[in-house]
Amino acid sequence: MDTFTLIQITDTHLSRERPEFLPNFEVAANIIGQTKPDLIVHTGDIAVEATLRSDDLLFGKEAMDSLNTPYRAIPGNHDVGDNPSDNNYMPPTPVSESLVQTYESHFGPDHWSLDQGGWRLIGLNAQLFSSGLARADQQHDWLVQSLEESAGRPVAVFCHKPLLRDHIEEAAEVPYRYVPMVDRAPLAAALDAADVRLFACGHVHQARDHWRGNTRHVWCPATAFTMPDSIQPRVGDKRCGLTSYRFSPNGVQVEMQFPQTMSHPEVGVLRKVYAI
Ligand SMILES: [Fe+2]
Ligand SMILES: [Fe+2]
Repeated sequence: MDTFTLIQITDTHLSRERPEFLPNFEVAANIIGQTKPDLIVHTGDIAVEATLRSDDLLFGKEAMDSLNTPYRAIPGNHDVGDNPSDNNYMPPTPVSESLVQTYESHFGPDHWSLDQGGWRLIGLNAQLFSSGLARADQQHDWLVQSLEESAGRPVAVFCHKPLLRDHIEEAAEVPYRYVPMVDRAPLAAALDAADVRLFACGHVHQARDHWRGNTRHVWCPATAFTMPDSIQPRVGDKRCGLTSYRFSPNGVQVEMQFPQTMSHPEVGVLRKVYAI
């Protein structure tokens, strides 16, 4: 297969008990049903809050299985808890080994690689950064080896959190938005040693498409919701959607889609679901 198509969805925030964001997932599901990609990658925050209700992950798995399309997933902070980060940030529910294991019981390994169409696709568990968990070091060692073994083929990395806003070294702002500062340099060094063409993330609930060197950084729009500027500073495009990719040996085409039928839940809905 010389080319293959992939749809990235992210931040679906699904829950049987809190179904407020399900209609937007159904819009994405319809698009996937029509376009029939070869692969779906879900870049995390599958659940509304799996650290409170493990059924949110089960419901998310049922939703992903209903797409009848091969898929891979990686966890987000609402799936396995968040990681400590810059400025001594300690999340209210930190990522833990047991939460990651629960996630893996539904979705398989929290990090993975897949060779397809001449590319190596890599999924990372962003919640391990600065976590202190043994599997954080294991993931980094595995990543270095996997990139070494990519042996010149182009690589696409999927990770819940963006690597950076503009630079590897920049003033820390919201501590939980990006890969923590202390983890960026070793991660960037590993990525820069290979031919990483794409670094695709979610988490921010804003769409953005920018470059660092030869790597295209794609912030996939969230399926579930965007946040008002009063809650979250605007960096990219605050619309709901999904991202389509066409991979070929020569490169990757990227197209973001922003279906008008995806609703934009009011802040009152966000407050109700998340008590913010
Ligand atoms: Fe999210
Ligand atoms: Fe997130």
